[in-house]
Amino acid sequence: MGTALPLLLLNIPQLLTLRSAHAGPRRGRDLSDLAILEDAAVLCLGGKIVSVGATKDALRDPWVKQNRKQIAKIDCSRMVVLPGFVDSHTHPVFAAPRLVDFEKRITGATYEEIAEAGGGIRSSIAAVRKATKPFLVQRVTEALEAMAAHGTTTVEAKSGYGLSLESEMKSLQAIRAAARAWPGSVVATLLGAHVVPPEYQGRSRKYVELVCNEMIPQTAKKKLAQFVDVFCDQGAFTAAETERIFAAATAHGLNTRAHMGQLSETRLAPFLRFDPASFDHMDHVANPDIRALAAGNTVATLVPGANYFLGLKEYPPARKFIDAGVPVALASDYNPGTSPTLSIPMAMSLACTHMKMTPAEAIAAATINGAWSLRVADRKGSLEPGKDADLAVFDVRDYREIAYWFGVNRCVLTIANGMVVADSGQMR
Ligand code: NIG
Ligand code: FE
Repeated sequence: MGTALPLLLLNIPQLLTLRSAHAGPRRGRDLSDLAILEDAAVLCLGGKIVSVGATKDALRDPWVKQNRKQIAKIDCSRMVVLPGFVDSHTHPVFAAPRLVDFEKRITGATYEEIAEAGGGIRSSIAAVRKATKPFLVQRVTEALEAMAAHGTTTVEAKSGYGLSLESEMKSLQAIRAAARAWPGSVVATLLGAHVVPPEYQGRSRKYVELVCNEMIPQTAKKKLAQFVDVFCDQGAFTAAETERIFAAATAHGLNTRAHMGQLSETRLAPFLRFDPASFDHMDHVANPDIRALAAGNTVATLVPGANYFLGLKEYPPARKFIDAGVPVALASDYNPGTSPTLSIPMAMSLACTHMKMTPAEAIAAATINGAWSLRVADRKGSLEPGKDADLAVFDVRDYREIAYWFGVNRCVLTIANGMVVADSGQMR
């Protein structure tokens, strides 16, 4: 990995700082406040942001004047600069795309029908179990690099296609090894409770015991993950099983998050005592639960890439969430079954066109609120002195273009923890 050199990004016509006067995740009208500075500069030292302000003030700074030879200056005239994206929901530890499922859906089968017939998540298990750890490290590394090329600097990465003690630990170790060699930041999540694997079919209780009594304790002991996730839905795990798994996670000092309401509605009240960081998907949610979320800090993480790729007509009710005061985040849900994209700008485009979020709301959801959902908002998600030097530079004149152009990558430079993590060469 490189080193964090002193960096000065300057002459930035639009710098989206996302700084906020309020503590806590963004909700309601605050989601639209990007705190934009014009003709701005950002100075980064030792991997941290030290100042954010006007270009002329940065150039007058005595420290900058004295050390100008060792500072790498990056002229961002004609660029938009914003905090690196926080992709708070990804499944990068898989071996192969699921092309049979893809074609079956084209001819009319649903995600649930394919899963019931033995496709879906279960069809990704065998290859991950067979894969060597170096192979999986390589897969995760390639994903992280491609994410960085699209402006992402912090990634939540889940296990969940091994579904045995050994292969879940192997998956988390692959995430750890890839993360150590990548300049960006990774938050790991154990998703041992993705589905019941074939050898436990009809014995889900036994499998939940394996998750609670072996996977979670080993994950905590080896510090392999910060979060435990559960796919709580029909065909996966019940609400009662999810509560058991959340209780085991909490007992072992791990935080909780869950795939919730993707295929069917589950009432959320029983889980709130675990203070989950996030409920993800949220296509189906009861009105009283929307009110309960508005009163707390659990983030609703929306992943419209999954709706798009499954060819669904309906999308999560983002407007209803935002208008009710629920904090929403936006993530890619990068995975081989429902969302084979690692582009946050693509998720932003879908958020605008299909969930009627504004470009400003989509940016806040994919930066500062993603950081809240991973409990790293003290370091990530906005450009403020003291925070990590995570920045994305886009070749656009107006921030709204980031969500407007789709199917092309306008990100030209990405800096993570003060290091260049992706460079298209267009800035030179
Ligand atoms: O977020 N819903 C559960 N997990 C993934 C899908 C995983 C897969 O189909 O491989 C999701 O959509
Ligand atoms: Fe997912």
